[in-house]
Amino acid sequence: MATCTVRPVETADADDWIRLRTALWPEVPGDHPPEITAFLADRPEAAECFVAEDARGRIVGFAEVGLRSFAEGCLTSPVGYLEGIWVEREARTAGVGRALVRAGEAWALARGCTEMASDRAIDNEASGAFHRAVGFEEAGHVVCYRRSLRPGEHP
Ligand SMILES: CC(C)(COP(=O)(O)OP(=O)(O)OC[C@H]1O[C@@H](n2cnc3c(N)ncnc32)[C@H](O)[C@@H]1OP(=O)(O)O)[C@@H](O)C(=O)NCCC(=O)NCCS
Repeated sequence: MATCTVRPVETADADDWIRLRTALWPEVPGDHPPEITAFLADRPEAAECFVAEDARGRIVGFAEVGLRSFAEGCLTSPVGYLEGIWVEREARTAGVGRALVRAGEAWALARGCTEMASDRAIDNEASGAFHRAVGFEEAGHVVCYRRSLRPGEHP
């Protein structure tokens, strides 16, 4: 059982959010500070970030959710979408991730959604086990492709 508090992110959490976001998505570290600054300034209607605070007040996890008009395998629109979730290693398997997902689901439900969707990398088996444990069922498999449009970079 998680001894954590889950709440929407606040301006004072910006540094923690950057740290956790960079841990989840290390490929584009430079993108996180400006995106977070813009989010906190604008508070868009169609997206939210929840943070989990442990008993000592440390931010140990976050989940970003949003509304999408379409999600693979879903029958309704818009759909609540779990865009990303990360829990610090030392705080894992204590219910923090589940609490973050439940907060995201409540957020989507309050915006009229009746379905929640998510995705994971095919080789992230732990994430697969987590998704199943918190109630998701597999809805499909998608292969992503890339093709450069720069002259000389494609045949
Ligand atoms: C996936 C992640 C968010 C889970 O967070 P967590 O706080 O450990 O999850 P919880 O403790 O709330 O676990 C909820 C359920 O998932 C299960 N679970 C969590 N991690 C698991 C793992 N690695 N293997 C198997 N089951 C797992 C738990 O056993 C629990 O099920 P139960 O209630 O039936 O026992 C965390 O491991 C993480 O941040 N991983 C790295 C980032 C990542 O992969 N994010 C997902 C990208 S799509």
